[in-house]
Amino acid sequence: MTSKNSKSKFGKDLETNLESQGSSTGQTASEKISISQRLSGKVCIITGTGGSMGRAAALLFAREGALVVGCDLQADAAQATVDAVHAEGGMMVSLQPCHLDQPVGCKALVDFAIRSFGRIDVLFNNAAMAYFNWLEDIGDEEWDQSHRDEVDLVFYLTRAAWPHLKTSRGVVVNTASLTASMSFKNLPSLAHSTAKAGIIGMTRQLAMEGREHGIRANSISPGIIETNQTREQLKDPEWAGTMLGKTLLGRLGRPEEVANVALFLASGESSYVTGIDIVVDGGMKVW
Ligand SMILES: NC(=O)c1ccc[n+]([C@@H]2O[C@H](COP(=O)([O-])OP(=O)(O)OC[C@H]3O[C@@H](n4cnc5c(N)ncnc54)[C@H](O)[C@@H]3O)[C@@H](O)[C@H]2O)c1
Repeated sequence: MTSKNSKSKFGKDLETNLESQGSSTGQTASEKISISQRLSGKVCIITGTGGSMGRAAALLFAREGALVVGCDLQADAAQATVDAVHAEGGMMVSLQPCHLDQPVGCKALVDFAIRSFGRIDVLFNNAAMAYFNWLEDIGDEEWDQSHRDEVDLVFYLTRAAWPHLKTSRGVVVNTASLTASMSFKNLPSLAHSTAKAGIIGMTRQLAMEGREHGIRANSISPGIIETNQTREQLKDPEWAGTMLGKTLLGRLGRPEEVANVALFLASGESSYVTGIDIVVDGGMKVW
């Protein structure tokens, strides 16, 4: 099932702007449109837009003038995000259900983005599913599944989008995790930590391979953010209290606070930033 914005006022104005600006001056749309629109006219794929951080990013990127291409396994949740973006007058299309752990699903998403907007400027690999167990309790199937749902989907989609990112001299933003570089005694995160450390390594290599095409690649490592994925676990007061006590800011993070960093990395404001990982953890890594 797909959904497309049927011309919100904002979308229509933006399209008109893009058409009239591109031709006469040779200037790109993003150079001419208001500087507060940090992603103006940029086609941004965001994965997992049915989830918490994905939805927050879709709303924020659209407010900043992006043409958002979303996707998710969960059709209803993904559609709800499209509706929320359209309700604000933003531009968004979405492909759902979309199975990013399969190359064919990733190719379908890239084709959909090109069919919808003709180019890809930003790829925000946000979607993933984490599995938590102590070493001796992790079965072979769970280990493989973790790799598929945290690493493979980033590789398959980035590989499929790469030719278009080369054309646009685009940007990759990946989502890693604080658990890639820290261990917590109350978190059985062997598979998750391994996978997300892989994302940091993959991102660094992407930045190196992308340099000659003008492609930048960076990752974000969130700490504990209140989302669909952590909500159940956070109901355990002892666990939540321990994690809260690890933050310097005395509170857990919000999806919007990760989206803000993704916006910085996706936009030209980070034009001299590539190959790094930004930790968004309220200071958990300090002590
Ligand atoms: N919540 C945290 O505290 C935290 C901490 C560190 C890292 N992260 C990372 O942040 C990212 C976003 O997580 P979130 O907390 O918003 O979780 P979320 O569950 O709210 O959102 C993730 C979304 O991705 C989708 N998805 C997962 N696998 C998919 C697949 N194969 N194909 C298509 N869609 C798929 C899910 O359906 C879901 O809607 C993830 O990469 C996660 O590992 C989260």
